Amino acid sequence: MSPKNNKRGESYNQLEAGTKRAKPVQHQRGPEIQPYGKIAKLPIALDEKVCAESAENLNQLIADTMTLRDMYKKHHWQVAGHTFYQLHLLFDKHHGEQDELVDEIAERIQLLGGISLAMAADIAETTMIERPPRGREEVPVQISRLLEAHELILKEARTMAKLATEAGDDGTNDLLVSDVIRTNELQVWFLAEHLVDVPVVRADRGAVAVAGE
Ligand SMILES: [Fe+2]
Repeated sequence: MSPKNNKRGESYNQLEAGTKRAKPVQHQRGPEIQPYGKIAKLPIALDEKVCAESAENLNQLIADTMTLRDMYKKHHWQVAGHTFYQLHLLFDKHHGEQDELVDEIAERIQLLGGISLAMAADIAETTMIERPPRGREEVPVQISRLLEAHELILKEARTMAKLATEAGDDGTNDLLVSDVIRTNELQVWFLAEHLVDVPVVRADRGAVAVAGE
């Protein structure tokens, strides 16, 4: 090493002098400030038992909604066939709308004083939606899987909405009915019409007329 380089090394060390308080303190761990499943009560005029029941229900709903959201992205990437372009776009639109629902559900859980599930491993352990394979599937199979996931979510959301109303948790009921149920119903319509087996070019009656010419 040349004397010139030695000097440069010293000057680098001097550059760090006096900066200790400005450096990030990294690689820290500590105890949880709230265990999962417990309620840190906020002043929202709801009993903590009501908050706990709504938070538990919404955590099942978020696990299923995150799974459906991610299945939309899988299908957005892996779709094949002559309807590729329209389904590629439709699946991504629905993915975005489900992603908005995920955020609304998670933030509802937090304001109820609960803790929202968040990480993929926890979602995979909790969801009731059937796991699709890693490989690509045909469009009718992709859409069938999505429809089944939507129906599962609609069933549980309607049950949870009734329970929330009975418990006096109107905010959770409103989220479930106005956002979750309405969005899922609309997406079902847009998907299900793709599985109606109608002719693409020549109408059935037209085919008979042509054949009889
Ligand atoms: Fe994309």
